Amino acid sequence: MHNDIEKVVISEEEIQARVNELGAQLTRDYEGKKPLVICVLKGAFIFMADLVKRIEVPMEMDFMAVSSYGASTESSGVVRILKDLDVSVEDRDVLIVEDIIDTGLTLSYLINILEGRKAASIKVVTLFDKPARRSANMEADYKGFVLPDEFIVGYGLDYAEEYRNLPYIGVLKPHIYSK
Ligand code: PRP
Ligand code: MN
Ligand code: MG
Repeated sequence: MHNDIEKVVISEEEIQARVNELGAQLTRDYEGKKPLVICVLKGAFIFMADLVKRIEVPMEMDFMAVSSYGASTESSGVVRILKDLDVSVEDRDVLIVEDIIDTGLTLSYLINILEGRKAASIKVVTLFDKPARRSANMEADYKGFVLPDEFIVGYGLDYAEEYRNLPYIGVLKPHIYSK
């Protein structure tokens, strides 16, 4: 285990098993379709990589990077596109892949944009959901794990850009935050 991690909350094996289940479910639901699968960078990149290997229908993939900003500590709900999609979503069945939904502001903004671009359908799959912190009216169509309001890292999720490469979900030792 990484030296900065206090405890593992979800093991690598548990994550992989759940990703397999989500992949099987999405395979059934997108049968006969050719979805455009969109990864929300950066956090979702590891989940995306594991999930698409388990969705056994023809698909295209694209990547988008967004960031919310505002008054220094509080999220304003304004989200900025850092990297836009390369392909058009018009008339496409879009599947948005996120690592975690917290306040829901990132996703509600993204869905708004993609609706404006006339996607045929828009669904969201998130590996982790923290409903306690929700401020935007936002519910994922598919979710891996529902988590309590505890700051977690790993499997794509960062603290100050670190720990994304951990294959499990863990909680940091308190002294890491007070550095
Ligand atoms: C994190 C996470 C989600 C978003 C969820 O991304 O990966 O995209 O926050 O929070 P919300 O529901 O409150 O909007 P972050 O902005 O940290 O960027 P990153 O993916 O590059 O780490
Ligand atoms: Mn993110
Ligand atoms: Mg982050």
